[in-house]
Amino acid sequence: MARFTIPRDLYHGKGALEALKTLKGKRAVICVGGGSMKKFGFLDRAEAYLKEAGMEVRLIEGIEPDPSVETVMRGAKEMLEFKPDWIVAMGGGSPIDAAKAMWIKYEYPDITFEEMCKIFGIPELRKKAKFCAIPSTSGTATEVTAFSIITDYQKGIKYPIADFEITPDVAIVDPDLAETMPQKLVAHTGMDAITHAVEAYVSTANNDYTDPMAIFAIKMIQKDLVPSYNGDMSKRGPMHNAQCLAGMAFSNALLGIVHSMAHKTGAAFADFGAHIIHGAANAMYLPKVIAFNAKDPTAKKRYGEIADYMGLGGSNDDEKVSLLIKYLRGMCDDLKIPHCIKNYGADSYPCEQGFVPEDVFLNRLHDIAVNAIGDACTGSNPRQPSVEEMEKLLKCCYYDTEVDF
Ligand SMILES: NC(=O)c1ccc[n+]([C@@H]2O[C@H](COP(=O)([O-])OP(=O)(O)OC[C@H]3O[C@@H](n4cnc5c(N)ncnc54)[C@H](O)[C@@H]3O)[C@@H](O)[C@H]2O)c1
Ligand SMILES: [Zn+2]
Repeated sequence: MARFTIPRDLYHGKGALEALKTLKGKRAVICVGGGSMKKFGFLDRAEAYLKEAGMEVRLIEGIEPDPSVETVMRGAKEMLEFKPDWIVAMGGGSPIDAAKAMWIKYEYPDITFEEMCKIFGIPELRKKAKFCAIPSTSGTATEVTAFSIITDYQKGIKYPIADFEITPDVAIVDPDLAETMPQKLVAHTGMDAITHAVEAYVSTANNDYTDPMAIFAIKMIQKDLVPSYNGDMSKRGPMHNAQCLAGMAFSNALLGIVHSMAHKTGAAFADFGAHIIHGAANAMYLPKVIAFNAKDPTAKKRYGEIADYMGLGGSNDDEKVSLLIKYLRGMCDDLKIPHCIKNYGADSYPCEQGFVPEDVFLNRLHDIAVNAIGDACTGSNPRQPSVEEMEKLLKCCYYDTEVDF
C-alpha cells in the first residue's frame, strides 16, 4: 500500500494571498525570514487579511536561511506563549521549514530534535493548530511537502524531518510573491525544483500518481526557467506552479542521492566562508548522479523517458541519458552555476578556485560520504551506492570528472 498526501486546499494564481481571509480561528502566528516579505509589503497584507478574518496576529520574524535547531526552539517557545490555532509561514523554504518544526515542538513541547528526525515518526499534529504555507521562492515546494530541513550547526549537517503529519493544511501559491526574487535566487530554486522532479521520476517509490506531476513539471521548467532568470516576468507564474507540482511528486515519491549529497555538503564547509546553496548543489550533482544511476536498467529507461518528453532526441537510452546530462549542464551554464565544488565561488558563481580547498574536501570526504549514505533520501535512490562509490561520486562532483563506475 502507498499513500498520496497533499494539502487539503491549494489556492493559486495572482492575488491568491487574499485566501488568508478564509481561515477560521482566534490567533495566528506569521513566521517569516530576514525581511524580504516585509520589504515588499506581503507581510503587512497577510497580517491585514488575517485580522479581517477576526484573528489576533503575532509575528515570528528573522528566521535565517538554512534554519538552525536553536531557531526552531525559540519559535516554538513563542508559540507556546501565544497559543495560535493557525501557523502561517511565508517566504522561502527556510522560514516555512522552520515553522513546520516549530509546529511539532509547539504540539509536543517535550519532543527532542532527535525524536523529530525519526523518519515518519511524528506523533499526530493538529491538536493545537493548523498550518498554512505561502512560498516566495520557486523551488523547495515545502508548501505541499511532508519535509522540513533543519541544520545542526554543531555537526554541520542538515537533517530532513519527514512525515505526512507536517504536510501543510493550506498552501497559497501566489506568483506575486515570486516576482521579487533576485536573479540568482531564481536560478538556485529553479534547479532545486527540476532536481525534485527528476529524482521523483526515477525514485524507487515513483507511481502512477506522482509520475504525471514530475514529468509535467520537468517540461515546464525546461521551458520557463532560463527565460524567467533572464527577466521574462511572465514566466514567474508558471515556474511557481511547476515547482509546486514537482513538490507534490517528490513528497509522495521521495527523492534520491542528489539530495542526500546536497544535504551533507551544504553546511559541511561553512567554516570556509559559505554554504553550498541547496539549489546550486543539486544543479552540480544532478548530472553526475544521473550518470551513476543510469547503470541501473530501470533508471536508465526512465531517464530516457524524461529525455523523450523534453524532446532531446537520441536513438537509444544510452544516447538519451547523455543528451539529458548535456542539457542539464547547459542549464547550469545559462544560469551561471558552476559544474563542480572546486569552481564554486561566492553566491555560486563559477570561479577558478572556489571556497572549498582541495585538502579540506579530501579530509572530510569519508565522513561526508558516510553521512550522505545515511541520509533519508538515499533509500529511494534507484542504485544504492557503497561508501567507496559515494566517495568516488563526490570526488567527481568536486573535480567535474566523468562518472564511469
Ligand atoms: N521542505 C522541503 O521539502 C525542502 C525541499 C528542498 C529544500 N529545502 C530547504 O529549503 C531551504 C532553501 O529554501 P529557498 O531556496 O526557498 O531559500 P531561503 O528560504 O533560504 O531564502 C533564501 C534568501 O532569499 C530571500 N527571499 C526569499 N523569497 C524572496 C523573494 N520573493 N524576493 C526576494 N528575496 C527573497 C530570503 O530572505 C533569503 O535571504 C534550504 O534549507 C533547503 O535545504 C526544503
Ligand atoms: Zn531540494
